[in-house]
Amino acid sequence: MDYKAIVLAAGQGKRMNAGFNKQLIKLNAIPLIVHSLRLFEQDTCCKGIILVVSEEERETMQHLVQSFTLKKIEQIVIGGKERQDSVYAALEAMEPPTIVLIHDGARPFVSQKVIHAVAAEAAKQGGAIAAVPVKDTIKKVTEGTVCETVQRTQLWAAQTPQGFQYDLIVNAHQQARAANALGTDDASLLERQGKRVAIVESDYLNIKLTTAEDLLFAETIIRTKENREHD
Ligand code: CTP
Ligand code: MG
Repeated sequence: MDYKAIVLAAGQGKRMNAGFNKQLIKLNAIPLIVHSLRLFEQDTCCKGIILVVSEEERETMQHLVQSFTLKKIEQIVIGGKERQDSVYAALEAMEPPTIVLIHDGARPFVSQKVIHAVAAEAAKQGGAIAAVPVKDTIKKVTEGTVCETVQRTQLWAAQTPQGFQYDLIVNAHQQARAANALGTDDASLLERQGKRVAIVESDYLNIKLTTAEDLLFAETIIRTKENREHD
């Protein structure tokens, strides 16, 4: 299923504590955002990429796109204060596709299989997200005391990409904005309209690089992949 991708890089990466945007951290000598963009650059089903960046980093990002010869970048769009604002800016700016995949620039390891499954399910069902079953036991806590152990069989950790029929996600964003509703992911904006969001079972390698510990895992994943390629 063909699609266009919105790749988000307009955050500040505060929790990473690197002193600069985590998107520019190098993994194996290549900036994190380039790893993520390459996932879509190399996918023949991807018909265009909208890269969302902050005003301050526009030139740096433009330079990366050129020096790593990323040919599918259709537009570089300036993001907003919240992730949701950044996604909306891209949705508004882009030449509308049938299916749009929204992906965190901080997730460089999603497999092609998952990308394709999300696009296919989005086309069939309207909305679909990559997700994995939660491994930990999750407690609901109020003021330092457990009030509930949530049934784990029903819990999934949401990842990206999240894929949608373009018209549905634009409408969901517009309604959320009108209601001043802020979601931490895009699927939640469809959910609040009572619309269906399908799950695509992903894998535990599709991590989001959020804190410094995640870099240790990321380096190991890259090394393992390289060794496999050389075998
Ligand atoms: N993002 C964005 N625009 C924002 C906020 C976030 O494009 N206003 C992007 C980030 O660049 C990232 C993705 O959304 O690729 C997921 O967000 P998160 O992991 O929270 O990244 P940051 O917001 O950069 O990190 P932090 O919350 O630690 O500051
Ligand atoms: Mg954030």
